Amino acid sequence: MSDRSDRFKDSIKFLSVCLTPVFLSLCILAVNLKDRAVQFQLACLVLLSIGAFFATIRFIPIVGPMCLKRGLGGKDINKGGDTPVPESLGIVSGTIYLVVIMMFQPILSSGLTEYNAALTGICFMMLLGFADDVLDLRWSVKIGLSFLSTLPLLVSYTGSTFIVVPVPLVPLIGHNVINLGLLYHVYIAFFSVFTTNSINILAGLNGLEAGQTIIITISMLIHGIIQYTMGIEPATNLASICMTVPFIATTAALLYYNWYPSKCFVGDTFTYQAGMTLAVIGIMGHSTKTLMLFFIPQLINFTISLPQLFGIIPCPRHRLPKLNRETGKLECIKTNWNLINLFLFILGPMSEKHLCSVVLWFQVFCNVMAFFIRYYVSTWVY
Ligand code: UD1
Ligand code: MG
Repeated sequence: MSDRSDRFKDSIKFLSVCLTPVFLSLCILAVNLKDRAVQFQLACLVLLSIGAFFATIRFIPIVGPMCLKRGLGGKDINKGGDTPVPESLGIVSGTIYLVVIMMFQPILSSGLTEYNAALTGICFMMLLGFADDVLDLRWSVKIGLSFLSTLPLLVSYTGSTFIVVPVPLVPLIGHNVINLGLLYHVYIAFFSVFTTNSINILAGLNGLEAGQTIIITISMLIHGIIQYTMGIEPATNLASICMTVPFIATTAALLYYNWYPSKCFVGDTFTYQAGMTLAVIGIMGHSTKTLMLFFIPQLINFTISLPQLFGIIPCPRHRLPKLNRETGKLECIKTNWNLINLFLFILGPMSEKHLCSVVLWFQVFCNVMAFFIRYYVSTWVY
């Protein structure tokens, strides 16, 4: 079977698994909507997102060769070949996503300043990602610049700076809620830098960056719909829902080309934009703790990576496994401390496609557990 039909079949399989919960949760939302105007807005959002999906599908093959022509391409390391694959195609999905959410300004504008800051923050992070793809920035510079990209959000954040104190700590602190004040802004900055960089370092397998992003975004969509139907902060949660649906659509189209064997790489343009978009959805929807629960695989990967990130153990430019050309499988490199090598260490050598599926199913498993923690376990402590 040709590469193209293979990729087509696999990505349709993955997308149908992913998009079924999206479809079902949107149907539940539509049934629960009493307001005709909101029903109409939701229908427009779904139609625009479908349009965004096809626009991304259409433009990636056009922009890809242009990127290659300007030297924006990378070797597919796990295949061992030399032919460059077009890089930074997150610029296409990101731009189309921004166009769609700009059209939704009237719905999202419950707090216009915050909304504009969110857009600027996403644009700024995308620019940083693109600059990184072009200039190949050093690790420390990337972290420093990603702090800068959170500035628009920080200076305009006027939402609540209170956090709910877990019940066992209430007697100790003496209050149910505490005002973190300026510290809350520091928290937002670190939170956004974590989401952007943690997606970027759980990478290096065809389909992994876009795949994990889709699963986390779908989880945020389902969470937003549950909150909305429960009548909790409806305006805020509707805004989150409006930001997630087109993001799922454009990322799904990107994933179609990025799935094994990749016809394009998403680039840091995408990973940074994805992390910031998710951070913005969490911050604007007042759900940063829930979002953190959906980032458990990234948190594990980040924790395992710390010794290399801090230079305690030497950190090569790419911390990927090693391809065994005879078996066609990837093998663990014990000195590269990350989640993908840990899976290979535990489960033994695997093909790239298989390993990516294992990591993505692990993400799904963790997110299901996250829902259990959020809606069941957390009721014991909050
Ligand atoms: C991060 C990781 C690095 C990993 C890289 C893969 C850390 C500290 N850094 O670096 O270990 O190797 O992501 O993206 O953990 N590539 C593939 N196959 C893919 C995706 C990417 O071979 O499916 C290669 C291509 O050569 C591509 C390059 O990775 O050009 C992109 O790397 P880049 O995103 O610039 O790496 P970093 O984000 O700096
Ligand atoms: Mg990267």
